[in-house]
Amino acid sequence: MGRKGTDIVGEKASEIVKRLNQALAAEALDAYRYLYLSKWAAGLEAPEVAELFHRISEHEWQHLGAFMDRIIELGGRPMARTTDFEKLSYADYMEPPKDRAALRKMVEDSLVGERKAIEFYNDLASFCRDSDPVTYLLASEALADEVKDEEDLENLL
Ligand SMILES: [Fe+2]
Ligand SMILES: [Fe+2]
Repeated sequence: MGRKGTDIVGEKASEIVKRLNQALAAEALDAYRYLYLSKWAAGLEAPEVAELFHRISEHEWQHLGAFMDRIIELGGRPMARTTDFEKLSYADYMEPPKDRAALRKMVEDSLVGERKAIEFYNDLASFCRDSDPVTYLLASEALADEVKDEEDLENLL
């Protein structure tokens, strides 16, 4: 980003970049996991559940791209090694169940992840509110998406 655009963020910029990289890692794991689940889910109720997993996977990819852009604007470097995904993510990766018909387990694990995302983006938005309105907006938009994901997943149970 231009110098003025970075200057207005001030000393919090490096902490914000760190948190955005944690978010990037988590979103990469989520996008992969949801796409996987959308293909892996099997059984009578599977088409509806798979469709939601697919839609959520696309949200998570969009978050990933938006956070990468913001890290670069802030003069940071987006996490470059895929082996850092699990190390940096704010939430543990939840491996999809072996049983393809374990739809309830897939949805419940997903809810755990969405609730962690809600907490994380709520904290990030608070942290940025006064110092970085651009990241504040991004975090708020991500938060709104995660709240919707939680709601949609809950409605399947
Ligand atoms: Fe997300
Ligand atoms: Fe989500």
